[in-house]
Amino acid sequence: MRVLVTGAAGFIGSTYVHLLRGEHDVTVLDKLTYAGRRENLPDEVELIVGSIEDRDLVFELAGDMDAVVNFAAESHVDRSIADQEAFARTHVIGTGVLLDAVRERGVPRFLQVSTDEVYGSIAEGSFTERSPLDPSSPYSATKAGGDLLVSAHWHTYGVEAVICRGSNNYGPRQYPEKLIPLCVLNAFSGDPLPVYGDGRQVRNWLYVEDFCRAIHTVLLHGRAGEAYNAGGPDECENLEVVRRILELTGRDESLIEHVRDRPGHDRRYSLSSEKLRAELGWEPRVRFAEGLERTVEWYRDNEWWWGRIRSGEYREYYEQHYGRALG
Ligand code: NAD
Ligand code: DAU
Repeated sequence: MRVLVTGAAGFIGSTYVHLLRGEHDVTVLDKLTYAGRRENLPDEVELIVGSIEDRDLVFELAGDMDAVVNFAAESHVDRSIADQEAFARTHVIGTGVLLDAVRERGVPRFLQVSTDEVYGSIAEGSFTERSPLDPSSPYSATKAGGDLLVSAHWHTYGVEAVICRGSNNYGPRQYPEKLIPLCVLNAFSGDPLPVYGDGRQVRNWLYVEDFCRAIHTVLLHGRAGEAYNAGGPDECENLEVVRRILELTGRDESLIEHVRDRPGHDRRYSLSSEKLRAELGWEPRVRFAEGLERTVEWYRDNEWWWGRIRSGEYREYYEQHYGRALG
């Protein structure tokens, strides 16, 4: 297949492209925001630098494709709380442009990468694909907007589109603004590990390669017009995640620092993946304990990757977001 993968210079998309290596003919379209990096991709993969909002460019690229897989996003909830505009542009306008191109250029298949956050928070039990969308943050609200446009294009025009919603991913090449890589790098350097509020929020952790296998399975075999949830095998309170990182890096709990909570912070996410398991045979393979160990190892061995990030835009963001709180 000739596959256009958008947003693949980021964390999950690049893992997906590595997975497809040698099997499919991949072209990447990525805007290279602060989170996108050429070196995340295999050398032989063609990277077009541009935005999914660029109608002319997207229409030109889509004409040759058998499938489009859309990872392109602003992915950090805290940044969406500070300024939502880029989120609305990429998730709603950009997804709409991709869908128009898929329809008008006759691309046989479209997959939208989405998130458990579109369902909102759940105190007990797990969300299924029939649960109503009830997003809380500008990030998740605009992701839900994108998902609804995908469904509308299926209902209105019969576009062969599917959605795959994942829970919290972690693994190699995740930008260190997210909880796990941020805490791993801070633990390496002996800096405080910032925990929002009481740290009792729960996330359903999914190793990135497991999510990428789910996405590819849904792309190939999912029923058009349907959404499929891909949840991780283990859930864990944030404080417990941070404690495990301290253990794996040989640091003690004095590094934990409780800071101001995230406004509108969702307490717990949980996805049922029963549909994906029963219909398409997908199951996550990597348990959290093993995946976290692998992730810490990867960061330990790849300072060339994160060393440059930590000194640039990231430093500015970090100081603005945590500066005073972390002294
Ligand atoms: P990321 O921030 O690491 O990467 C996003 C990529 O999209 C970057 O390379 C960026 O340059 C690119 N991009 C941003 N705006 C663009 C635009 N307008 N046009 C083209 N490219 C653009 O994000 P990630 O964590 O890899 O997330 C990828 C996708 O998976 C997103 O759609 C996200 O909502 C979804 N998702 C993420 C998680 C998670 O835990 N990280 C879980 C479930 C779903
Ligand atoms: O659930 C899927 C989502 O997971 C994806 O759709 C998002 O793109 C991805 O960023 C992630 O969102 P979260 O907000 O859950 O991830 P984050 O790593 O930012 O935070 C995880 C939890 O840790 C959350 O409860 C907030 C908390 N946290 C986060 C940071 C960055 C802290 O306590 N301290 C921190 O410094």
